[in-house]
Amino acid sequence: MDDDLLEFCRSIPKIELHAHLNGCIRSSTFRQLLSSSDDQNRLDQLEQTFAQGNTHSRMANVFEKFALLRSCVTNLDEIRRITYETLEDFSNDNVIYAELRTRPRSFDQGRIPSSAYIETIIDVIKQFQEKICARLILSIDRIQSVEQATETFQLAQQYRDYVVGLDLSGDPNVKSFERFRSIFDLAKQVNLSTTIHIGELPDEECLNENNLILDYEPTRLGHFNFRTNEQEQRVIQEKIPLELCPTSNLLTMNLNDFAEHHFNLFYTNKHPIAICTDDSGLMDCCLSTEIYNIAKSFHLSKKDLYEFCFRATNLIFDKNALKFLQQKLEEFSQQSNIF
Ligand code: IMP
Ligand code: ZN
Repeated sequence: MDDDLLEFCRSIPKIELHAHLNGCIRSSTFRQLLSSSDDQNRLDQLEQTFAQGNTHSRMANVFEKFALLRSCVTNLDEIRRITYETLEDFSNDNVIYAELRTRPRSFDQGRIPSSAYIETIIDVIKQFQEKICARLILSIDRIQSVEQATETFQLAQQYRDYVVGLDLSGDPNVKSFERFRSIFDLAKQVNLSTTIHIGELPDEECLNENNLILDYEPTRLGHFNFRTNEQEQRVIQEKIPLELCPTSNLLTMNLNDFAEHHFNLFYTNKHPIAICTDDSGLMDCCLSTEIYNIAKSFHLSKKDLYEFCFRATNLIFDKNALKFLQQKLEEFSQQSNIF
């Protein structure tokens, strides 16, 4: 391991643009929240069998873990804790701007509404504002109804001070972008940025859905693991920014090495890219090491990395924060003598 490069990746001020709030849960917290030994055993089993399968079975494994996680987060105190620990972890890793995404949910059969869920997260974001500038992206889950997705859009509008975008995520076996297209059109009409998970499975239906997503022209795209050459060229030509999550992509794509990751293809085309963590808790990774692994695999120098991180700031949804982030990076470059 190149300690000097790793230290550089740790100390450079970073931005996180693709992090699912509940997926950031510390594994120790996840274990504590699991109430029964059956659930503990199920988690053990899922962790043991994950690496055995192909992309489809790995995805099924990950989504079973998400379901287990969802079933054991049952109140606002737990969401407060998860948000607190997530921001603490990012801030300790010198992340200075983070867009956390989450699917709003109610608790207690609706007695605690989704608005309370969002307000709880915003409360914690405010507590951390001196350490990290955090914003929210609300997620529509692929399995939801159009009514539920409409409610999410309305919540995004209601909390525009902190909500900076709308995401489509969830089990990629469910091809539902078309169903939600009208809601994403509404987002465009009110200048709410959008990011869509795209190309997560190596199948025909997924490749077909990719075209529908690209036709919509979202503000950013997540992953883009599986795609046709034509789709690849289209994204490059249209300069649609990509959120790439190396560890998560490597695990779900079943790659042997970071060197096989599609980062380089887009990087060498000078494409707008952000390196992100996706689910830092469940995937057991952090942003510094994600950036380090990519730098190491594709022989990026400190100067390359600095320029990469600087360019990535242009991809944030809350443009009000741009100047502050670029200033922080400039201060860092003056102190660290990379040029
Ligand atoms: P939450 O929205 O804060 O509850 O974060 C967890 C949720 O994010 C999961 O239940 C999934 O729906 C979604 N998610 C996390 N990682 C992925 C991914 O790689 N692909 C699609 N959806 C994901
Ligand atoms: Zn994701």
